Amino acid sequence: MQRQPSKTKMEVVGDKNNDLFEFLVGAELEMYTNAFKETLKVNSVAQLRDVDKKDLQIVGLSRPEQKRFKRYYDKRFGTWSKLKKVFKRETDSKAAPTDRLPTSPANVGRDRHLIPSDAITINYRAEPLGKGEFGIVYRGVWRREDGQRIQCAVKTLTKERFETAQSEFFKEATIMCSMEHDNIVRLYGIVLDLCLGSLMMVSELAPLRSLSDCLRDWNQRPLFPVVILCDLVIQIASGMEYLDSKGLVHRDLAARNILVFSPTLVKVSDFGLTRALGVGRTYFKTATTDRKLPFAWCAPEAINEFVFTSATDVWSFAVTMWEMFSYGEQPWATYSGEQIRQAIGPPMYHRLERPRFCPFSHYRIMHECWSHKPKERPTFTKLCHVLQEAKPEQRVAIDDVDGDVVHNLMTLRLVTSSQYWKNPVTTMAGSAR
Ligand SMILES: Nc1ncnc2c1ncn2[C@@H]1O[C@H](COP(=O)(O)OP(=O)(O)OP(=O)(O)O)[C@@H](O)[C@H]1O
Ligand SMILES: [Mg+2]
Repeated sequence: MQRQPSKTKMEVVGDKNNDLFEFLVGAELEMYTNAFKETLKVNSVAQLRDVDKKDLQIVGLSRPEQKRFKRYYDKRFGTWSKLKKVFKRETDSKAAPTDRLPTSPANVGRDRHLIPSDAITINYRAEPLGKGEFGIVYRGVWRREDGQRIQCAVKTLTKERFETAQSEFFKEATIMCSMEHDNIVRLYGIVLDLCLGSLMMVSELAPLRSLSDCLRDWNQRPLFPVVILCDLVIQIASGMEYLDSKGLVHRDLAARNILVFSPTLVKVSDFGLTRALGVGRTYFKTATTDRKLPFAWCAPEAINEFVFTSATDVWSFAVTMWEMFSYGEQPWATYSGEQIRQAIGPPMYHRLERPRFCPFSHYRIMHECWSHKPKERPTFTKLCHVLQEAKPEQRVAIDDVDGDVVHNLMTLRLVTSSQYWKNPVTTMAGSAR
């Protein structure tokens, strides 16, 4: 194992009380404390997870002592060491050869999926980026092995959240880490916090936070005129098409889970999280009392039978479109979960109304996505195509040396966004009948 002496800054997992000595006393191996510190450069219990059998031999532990070390470690952090194995096994078998974890756990720090806790510094003093169903999201800095410092978002998952399905979580997290697409939020890796018994997901930081935050904010709203929204829905469909092609179902697609990197670049986040966390029926059933929960985004079969497929994602995608064109309104705002279930199902088959600024072409597409029968809903591949076709043309008059010429422009270059927001419907030539 290779570890930089005392370079590590244990801000997340603490070395505050010299817990290594205490641990080794518990394992009746305290005579090896100096060897751990000097030979392996291990100074805290948190760093023990990087230690493998070979390291124990180097330190001089006999076979029975190695067993005692392992037994005691497992007794204290049993779940974690098991999780580590599951994570490693899954990564080894599923990832592409270049993505594989190194064979020695001592090298996990170099792997991009499992991030050592001492490589993450969370800015607890700053206001958290937000709080969701699964935990609190903080700003942080990830210090990579090559010394590069990367701004990141750190989602701290509460213990209760993943206690139920840890190995499932690791399987899913491994898959989530391997997703790479321009419109998919990059999950850098996860951090196991042995001391606090919690888990963190480290991902790309979206400077403008979520799309629902942006659209609800009166100051930001002018940055998102209807033509831009029409472009952003294509980006979301494209990200979803990619996830679908990888066999991943999002299960919680909503504007709150679309992150904004610039007014013209959005990415889908939190894909697979509900599944990874083994979130059960309760998450959906309790939605009757909490509007933030995703009943309003769920297809009938997801609500009634708890079936999640790419077709249920397509349904949620259309609800996300609805949120976008209504500039952050709450779908089915006055309905309880049970009322939503009844409204969208037989015999009523009610659907959300067309938001004022939604082009008719886009509303028609949304309706197709809300077909009661999953098979009648378009696929994301088809959606990418039809949304591209439906993208509004803009007619903008520009000065030309030969006189006034009207050109069809597909960009907003000549129309300021604030002008656009003031009267998006009338400004859009030919898109909103
Ligand atoms: N990678 C990120 N970069 C910047 N801000 C983020 C990031 N991830 C989340 N946030 C912010 O934190 C808030 C909470 O995110 P979180 O995913 O925990 O909950 P949510 O998206 O509101 O709901 P859900 O629990 O359904 O995901 C988001 O609304 C967003 O503003
Ligand atoms: Mg989220």
